[in-house]
Amino acid sequence: MAADNGLFSSALISPEVSAALPKGYKLRALRRADYDSGFLDCLRVLTTVGDISRDEFEAQYERMFKQEGYYIVVVEDDEGAVVATGALIVERKFIHNLGAVGHIEDIAVSKSQQGKKLGLRLIQALDFIAEHIGCYKSILDCSDANEGFYIKCGFRRAGLQMAHYY
Ligand code: ACO
Repeated sequence: MAADNGLFSSALISPEVSAALPKGYKLRALRRADYDSGFLDCLRVLTTVGDISRDEFEAQYERMFKQEGYYIVVVEDDEGAVVATGALIVERKFIHNLGAVGHIEDIAVSKSQQGKKLGLRLIQALDFIAEHIGCYKSILDCSDANEGFYIKCGFRRAGLQMAHYY
């Protein structure tokens, strides 16, 4: 099995965002070994995660690793536990001169760590990645209850979401 260096290059980890984290906290790419670090528990503040086995986790990680466009960041605390995570999924396009759009997904900060600007740091970290890989915009869907958070992160309301659920 390949070395577990993370889902994407550490060159895409913003030094400014890293420096702004609480003392001892670290921003990095998701790793295959994060099955054991509290990553899935962190996501449980967002929605149902399910009962995922180690093999299933690693197989999903490998699928994302092999496919271009998956950037999942985590923040670990001073004891190495994952306390915040967020994802940027990059969509390649023909329009806008072969442009790319970033989709911000699955932003989650552990309950006990909310209110320490970790959510803001996640968004700044994903913005850094999106800009560096040439996205012309990043977009996201959120509930009315989270609109104020994203406004604080510099987003503005644009358009209307519609969905088919399967
Ligand atoms: N409404 C209005 N303002 C908010 C909210 C909110 N729901 N949450 C935070 N803020 C404000 C803060 O007060 C702060 O303002 P300030 O700069 O004036 O002090 C600013 O936004 C930054 O807040 P952070 O401390 O960075 O927020 P936190 O680390 O608590 O993360 C988050 C916010 C991600 C919404 C967190 O509460 C969380 O994980 N919630 C549960 C999961 C969730 O709803 N995730 C978002 C789903 S949408 C998506 O994934 C695209």
